[in-house]
Amino acid sequence: MIRLDDVHKQFGPVAALSGLSLDIPAGTIYSLLGPNGAGKTTTINALLGFVEPDRGRVTINSIDVKTQRMAARRQVTYIPEQVQLYPRLTGLENLRYFHELSGAAALELGELRRCLFDAGLQEGAIDRPVGDYSKGMRQKVGIAIALARRAPAMLLDEPTSGLDPHAAREFGESLRWLAGQGVAILMATHDLFRAREVAHRIGILNAGCLVEDLLAADIDIAALEPLYIERIHGNPG
Ligand SMILES: Nc1ncnc2c1ncn2[C@@H]1O[C@H](COP(=O)(O)OP(=O)(O)OP(=O)(O)O)[C@@H](O)[C@H]1O
Ligand SMILES: [Mg+2]
Repeated sequence: MIRLDDVHKQFGPVAALSGLSLDIPAGTIYSLLGPNGAGKTTTINALLGFVEPDRGRVTINSIDVKTQRMAARRQVTYIPEQVQLYPRLTGLENLRYFHELSGAAALELGELRRCLFDAGLQEGAIDRPVGDYSKGMRQKVGIAIALARRAPAMLLDEPTSGLDPHAAREFGESLRWLAGQGVAILMATHDLFRAREVAHRIGILNAGCLVEDLLAADIDIAALEPLYIERIHGNPG
């Protein structure tokens, strides 16, 4: 569903991506780990069509991002680190606004409410101004926007940074629920614990190369950090 084949991207002297290949099937959550500058955001930007690879192919739902950019864009929802919403509008009003803006088919208010509820927003918050929301609650509105669009793919860039453990856990549960609906999810993160808890697969990116790619179930949380350090810095002994 979310696919990169041998993607290269050079920014001046910096090789941001050096032959990256990924294939994330429907219903799968993939956590992309890696140090600052590893190429995680560049990967997401290539999938969104914001960055054009020098070489290789990027597709979403088999639609080529380079040749059919708008069609590919409709297959995917994107959740940045800070979900930008209108503070004076309620959660429901924000959802309706962004849903209509996306050009997707209009939904009835009841259906939009359902999306917020399914995203894990407390019912009491739905009609309150977003200016009063916590960061975790705003992220849930982002999930609801994704749910309403029914896009088969979702990209997230450090979505849990700054969330408290409880909010991050709830956020992870919402992602799991979304994957259960068949959505393919790529999440760039520095949170090893959450990556291990939430994802089906984990990849470690270093200097634009995928240096590890494993099933989350095949590694326990205590072993992930040493593996990460070894893959990034090499094992000194
Ligand atoms: N538009 C750009 N122009 C020049 N260099 C860029 C551009 N975008 C990214 N880079 C460089 O490409 C490399 C990869 O950056 P990227 O933002 O993809 O890393 P990242 O893994 O998301 O890092 P972080 O964890 O800090 O968010 C970095 O060296 C960065 O400076
Ligand atoms: Mg980044």
